[in-house]
Amino acid sequence: MSVQTAPQLGWREKLKGDNYFLHKLHSLTGIFPVGYYLVQHLFLNSMAAIDPKYFNAVVYFFNAILPKPVLWAMELFLIVLPLLFHSLYGFVITYHGKSNIFKYKFRENLGYTLQRVSGVVIFFFLLFHVYSTTVSHKL
Ligand code: HEM
Repeated sequence: MSVQTAPQLGWREKLKGDNYFLHKLHSLTGIFPVGYYLVQHLFLNSMAAIDPKYFNAVVYFFNAILPKPVLWAMELFLIVLPLLFHSLYGFVITYHGKSNIFKYKFRENLGYTLQRVSGVVIFFFLLFHVYSTTVSHKL
């Protein structure tokens, strides 16, 4: 009697956007830390619209309270890497997804497509945003 074993998947198959663990991790990172960071980033930066001194106080707070290496580590592990993972795996999901808005006219079908289109737009916006607000000032 021969024993049946599950077929071994190569990395290409594992990355096909239907990997259970990566998909759940992708959903989680969209909410925390990426979504959480987005809300607090918009909230704290909007202080500048009330009065620049409030915004400066926020910047001072972050620079004063934590040593630089801790701040950089937090930026890397709580912002850059989760956002990079969410974005890159988002592209994998988008690449393997099948839009059906021309076949079905339900709101959910439109939402499915818009979520992917908005993700791609957000990605290029974020590249521009990080370049224009941070990188270009350091060059
Ligand atoms: C500020 C940046 C972003 C935030 C706050 C965010 C947040 C989220 C959230 C909360 C979800 C829902 C997760 C779920 O229901 O499973 C999601 C899904 C998704 N995101 Fe993002 N996202 C961002 C950027 C991006 C980028 C840059 C891409 C790149 C293409 C992307 C692609 C996707 C895709 C394809 C899904 C659907 C996943 C699925 O169908 O299971 N997102 N995002």
